[in-house]
Amino acid sequence: MSCPQCVGADQVFSGFYVARELRSYRRKGPRATTTMLVEALKAEDIEGFTLLDIGGGVGAIQHELLRAGVSRATGADAAAAYLQATREEAERQGHAERIEYRHGDFVQIAGELESADIVTLDRVICCYHDMEALVNTSAEKARRLYGVVYPRDVWWTRVGNGFLNFFFWLLRNPFRVFVHSSCEVDALVRGAGLQRLYTRMTANWQVVLYKR
Ligand SMILES: C[S@@+](CC[C@H](N)C(=O)[O-])C[C@H]1O[C@@H](n2cnc3c(N)ncnc32)[C@H](O)[C@@H]1O
Repeated sequence: MSCPQCVGADQVFSGFYVARELRSYRRKGPRATTTMLVEALKAEDIEGFTLLDIGGGVGAIQHELLRAGVSRATGADAAAAYLQATREEAERQGHAERIEYRHGDFVQIAGELESADIVTLDRVICCYHDMEALVNTSAEKARRLYGVVYPRDVWWTRVGNGFLNFFFWLLRNPFRVFVHSSCEVDALVRGAGLQRLYTRMTANWQVVLYKR
């Protein structure tokens, strides 16, 4: 990977951190905002649909949707340790043969990936510097549904991100987190031909589902 942000993500999302996330998913299931997105997707008729899950972490969306009728999934992630964890969990749940795994910066490898009925980015837009390229490239891949979880652009998420970025700077890690403009994200997704179908807000996050 040539993008320093993704090299940094590969270092941040590794070892102990990923093992802890996997333990947490096995004990408690998906986090609250992931569950909101999964439930909104399940409310649509997704039987037999394909899924492209970008930056899927331990693969919570992949596992939940494959159990809910999705036929096949592709997990594309910049963090190799997360892909390994997703694979382990898919084997444990018995659907590993229905998932394809791709390691890399999605923006760079997008040309090699097929479109899917559902595209998801759960807490990924905030982990990438070039929001416009990530949103445009991923929205183009969504044949029917496009689901995102990303930070609300309010002062307290910006302050929180400032602390996190100071911490990464201290560690000499090039990874940074971002609060991108909600209006700009929404305009790009709509510009790609998708309409907003569902929105939920928590204190820090927004969960949005779009339909083509
Ligand atoms: C904060 S984690 C979220 C993981 C999971 N979706 C969740 O909500 O628990 C961000 C994930 O996005 C991935 N990521 C960020 N930018 C990416 C890119 N351009 N291409 C592929 N994966 C990316 C990271 O490697 C990481 O797995």
